[in-house]
Amino acid sequence: MNNIRTVVWRPQPRQKLFMSRGEDEALYGGAAGGGKSDCAIAEALRQVHIPHYRGLILRKTYPQLSEIIDRSREIYKSAYPKAKYNEQKHCWTFPSGAKIYFGSLHHTKDRLNYQGKQYDFIDFDELTQFTWDEYNYLLSRNRPGGPGTRCYMRAQANPGGIGHGWVKERFINPAKPMTTIWENTKITYPDGRTVTKKRSRVFVPSRVFDNKILMENDPDYVARLAAMPEAERKALLYGDWDSFSGQVFTEWRDNPDEYDMRRNTHVINPFRVPDSWKIYRGFDFGYAKPFSVGWYAIDHDGRMYRIRELYGCTGTPNEGVRWEPSEIARKIYEIEKTDPNLKGKKIRGIADPSIFDKSRGESIAEMMERERVYFEKGDNTRLAGKMQMHNRFAFDENGIPMLYVFNTCRHFIRTVPALVYDTVHVEDVDSTTEDHIYDECRYVCMEHPINPIKRKPEPKEYNPLEYEPYISTLKWADKY
Ligand SMILES: Nc1ncnc2c1ncn2[C@@H]1O[C@H](COP(=O)(O)OP(=O)(O)OP(=O)(O)O)[C@@H](O)[C@H]1O
Ligand SMILES: [Mg+2]
Repeated sequence: MNNIRTVVWRPQPRQKLFMSRGEDEALYGGAAGGGKSDCAIAEALRQVHIPHYRGLILRKTYPQLSEIIDRSREIYKSAYPKAKYNEQKHCWTFPSGAKIYFGSLHHTKDRLNYQGKQYDFIDFDELTQFTWDEYNYLLSRNRPGGPGTRCYMRAQANPGGIGHGWVKERFINPAKPMTTIWENTKITYPDGRTVTKKRSRVFVPSRVFDNKILMENDPDYVARLAAMPEAERKALLYGDWDSFSGQVFTEWRDNPDEYDMRRNTHVINPFRVPDSWKIYRGFDFGYAKPFSVGWYAIDHDGRMYRIRELYGCTGTPNEGVRWEPSEIARKIYEIEKTDPNLKGKKIRGIADPSIFDKSRGESIAEMMERERVYFEKGDNTRLAGKMQMHNRFAFDENGIPMLYVFNTCRHFIRTVPALVYDTVHVEDVDSTTEDHIYDECRYVCMEHPINPIKRKPEPKEYNPLEYEPYISTLKWADKY
């Protein structure tokens, strides 16, 4: 990135290591402030001399993009004074005609912005903010726009966040850092031909101590990270992927291309439920927090379908609509009289056992009974219920799970994949998050427990203690 006289940006040694990797996918990850985002901005420039080159740098939301765009103005404008930035399109055009775009994937529908497009280089900054489906979708957009370009994906991330689980499984667990992970992927062409291709990926750990420029500019930065609570400190200062409470249902898949075929996706298109299937209604009461009602159909194989929901949320996440139990019951009654999949069916209600509590007068269950809506006590054994959801989400060898969700159940799709582990009860879901739909679904799953499906052995967990330089954080700290 030389212009004629001055060096605009020079990689620091660890950044150089990341930039020298030849794998198809690489994750630069770990501690905060290691110089990861700077590296992404510089890496995107590598092929801008090729006129048809297209690069894309993604952040989860547009506001988050602005800081990276600001930094690109400093680097790109100095390196290529004739490069032009288009504010509306969030796109740099270089003298050759090459383009680098900045984009976001805030909502599932934002995927459509990338439909039919192709990029030689795609970078996800803060990869753990993205879901696997989003990453996987963009993988399919990573194609050469013409001859002579190199086609590859790069990502940066700190531990933690909704994508923590899948990112760890994909990049951290299978091999030690700096070791190439090979995977065979099958590609089926429109004419039915199937070709197996090898793809490679790698994890390059990043540490704040590697970013001498930051340490010089802001000597207190490390002290600020060191003052954070333990889980955050371990994650953000030492880049420890094991300490952070990550996503619970890492197996969750929402793949719109498969909504009709129903393979390797939990979300599917709605359909008319056969009359012979059993129907359940799960309920978790809330007033200041949302209440949740979910209707489930069970087919003759015991497979469960979430077919309808009623979620008492104001629109602000985790804020309840403050409906009285009788009002909720009246709405349930109305839905069950009119929904074609529920009308005339025998429906078993299963609810949070606390709605039967009479210690403060009439119970919530009794108030709802007056409106002809009846419930039985659900089994609230938390870990067993969570395991039942894992058992049902697991795909068999044909990509078929035991729990599907109609794509109309948008609050389930929004909240259940976002659940994270509790930092104290590390095996359990963090119940301070928006877990009401999860709870209600858990009660229904416990009515029909199933066994886990037998799986191939998982890859061996990466143990950081086996890789001394990566964990001996005190030694790095001593050095500076
Ligand atoms: N090679 C470099 N040359 C000049 N400055 C750099 C270089 N690498 C990083 N920096 C500076 O160090 C600071 C932190 O870098 P950066 O934002 O890339 O870190 P990060 O790992 O992405 O941090 P976070 O984890 O907070 O996202 C920034 O101010 C950046 O400009
Ligand atoms: Mg960054």
